[in-house]
Amino acid sequence: MPDGTKLTDVEAVTERGSYRFTAADPFTNDREIVLVPCDEDPGVRAWINTCPHESQRFDTGDGVPIRDGEVICPRHGSLFDACSGECDNGPAAGTALRGVEVAVEDGAVYLTDGDYSFRHEGGTDDDDPGSTSHLSL
Ligand code: FES
Repeated sequence: MPDGTKLTDVEAVTERGSYRFTAADPFTNDREIVLVPCDEDPGVRAWINTCPHESQRFDTGDGVPIRDGEVICPRHGSLFDACSGECDNGPAAGTALRGVEVAVEDGAVYLTDGDYSFRHEGGTDDDDPGSTSHLSL
């Protein structure tokens, strides 16, 4: 078994389209990370859930928008290769998604990146169900 936290299964990522979770970075800041399907081994990739152009989240709670193996930025529409993370179009052209290390064994995905500690499933807003941060005026 890989040395890390089990997140989910590759099959679940493929079926749902993506999987979002929150992990603490080396500065103990919570970061959202998304798993997305990739045609290349081992079948998934993990990316920080932020567009390098203007810090737009890809998954805002409804999953990562993906089409034909490309992650779509919901703000300006730049497309990122789901496997390499690279972008060659739109306002984010020339940038790349920030990757997070994961490993797959027996169909299960593990967070193996030493810079991140798993906190919980879902986004950074999902850790406190009693929080009033979901209220809008
Ligand atoms: S914020 Fe993503 S392309 Fe502009």
